[in-house]
Amino acid sequence: MLPKWYDKWVSENPKDIFGPAILIGAVGGAVLVAALLVTWGRPLAVEAVQTGPRGTGMSVTKFVSDRATPDPTAAAYVSVAPVVPQPGDARARTAVPGAEAALGDLTAANYERLVGQMREWTGIPDLFAGEENYQTVVARSMIQMTQNLNENWEGHVNLSGQAGVNCYTCHRGQPVPTGVWFKITPVSEATAGWASVQNRTTVQSGSTSLPSDALEKYLLDGETIAVHDLESRVAQDVTDGSSPTWQNTERTFSLMNYFDNALGVNCVFCHNSRAFYDVGQNTPQWAQAQLAIGMVQELNIDYMTPLQDVLPPERLGAQGDVPKIGCMTCHKGYQRPLGGMDMVSDWPELRASGEPVYQ
Ligand code: HEC
Ligand code: HEC
Ligand code: HEC
Repeated sequence: MLPKWYDKWVSENPKDIFGPAILIGAVGGAVLVAALLVTWGRPLAVEAVQTGPRGTGMSVTKFVSDRATPDPTAAAYVSVAPVVPQPGDARARTAVPGAEAALGDLTAANYERLVGQMREWTGIPDLFAGEENYQTVVARSMIQMTQNLNENWEGHVNLSGQAGVNCYTCHRGQPVPTGVWFKITPVSEATAGWASVQNRTTVQSGSTSLPSDALEKYLLDGETIAVHDLESRVAQDVTDGSSPTWQNTERTFSLMNYFDNALGVNCVFCHNSRAFYDVGQNTPQWAQAQLAIGMVQELNIDYMTPLQDVLPPERLGAQGDVPKIGCMTCHKGYQRPLGGMDMVSDWPELRASGEPVYQ
């Protein structure tokens, strides 16, 4: 095919064409990758929040694209500044026909403002319109619950001094907040005990094989959260119920899994994973979470359970139990509800019980 002189020349002047080809290929490939990175950005870029000392691997890593997505309901939050009362301002009790007695001491302007906003926050347009609506009865205790949260649980809901909670923290414009939970139903009447809570695809277990009753045991019944201890079992009497068992361990991990999902974090947000048992190596967030466990128990026992006879049957769970609060009810999968937004400065009426203090 090729002229003879060419074959002769090639055999007399051997050339290594692979070297240059590899070089050109590599350089060309690198240029292509660089061009793609410039045009696409870095879709898989991650950002880490360091939670512990350097070198211990304690960081919560997330895709930058996820971090950039704020809680979509935060943008829809509406707040209205209070109207500082002037001497002689008419009180709601006399000025507003049919005013809710518990809020009667507010000035008419602040009454309208608060009730109007509570209707928006809960998505119930006729809230406080009349006694026959059970929602009005529920709302009374919800106001006390919110005041109690801001007044007595500041160490959790307002540690930063600029957060706090109001109705919107849980409700987000809906009568029934998302992230409530119920007792789980046994698989059948014949199953009870451990078999009926383990290996079930339930929301409570995050669809893992871990026990589904962790929220009930720890956020309602107040059972001790514990895993196996570091002592030898031989010397212990495991039958007296005081030593944590393997089942307690699994239930604890089920709760911890729930914490992670409720806050959108991982375990090292609160623990040093080399020593889960060592409180001394935990982060400050662990202490804030520890406080939340007692807080949520109180919400469920003192405020939700008494609504048993007030809520209509369609609001109750399959076991006939009231909806209950968990970390998810406020946090909704985010480290801080609504990104730590200020929910109380505009609402002295909900900040504490008693006479509101207007600035
Ligand atoms: C910590 C979370 C939380 C906060 C804060 C909160 N609520 Fe609720 N609320 C709940 C839960 C949980 C329910 C039970 C849902 C149901 O009724 O099925 C509920 C139910 C209600 C209901 C009954 C809704 C229905 O249709 O059954 C009303 C009304 C209500 N809340 C009003 C308020 C008002 C007003 C505020 C603020 C003063 C408030 N809530 C603050 C968690 C909260
Ligand atoms: C939001 C903070 C938080 C996150 C996230 C968290 N934990 Fe915990 N963890 C706690 C708190 C608070 C306790 C202590 C509860 C108590 O004793 O009252 C605890 C207790 C434990 C215990 C029991 C320790 C003991 O001495 O008995 C283990 C084990 C544990 N967590 C493991 C985990 C694992 C595994 C993860 C990740 C899946 C995790 N935790 C995520 C806050 C957290
Ligand atoms: C009544 C609403 C509410 C409930 C229920 C709730 N939290 Fe919180 N939590 C908050 C608020 C509000 C903040 C932000 C406080 C601040 O920034 O001052 C917060 C902050 C935290 C923080 C600190 C986050 C950070 O960025 O440092 C942790 C950890 C936490 N919560 C864990 C929990 C756990 C675990 C539960 C369930 C056992 C829980 N919370 C239940 C309202 C709630």
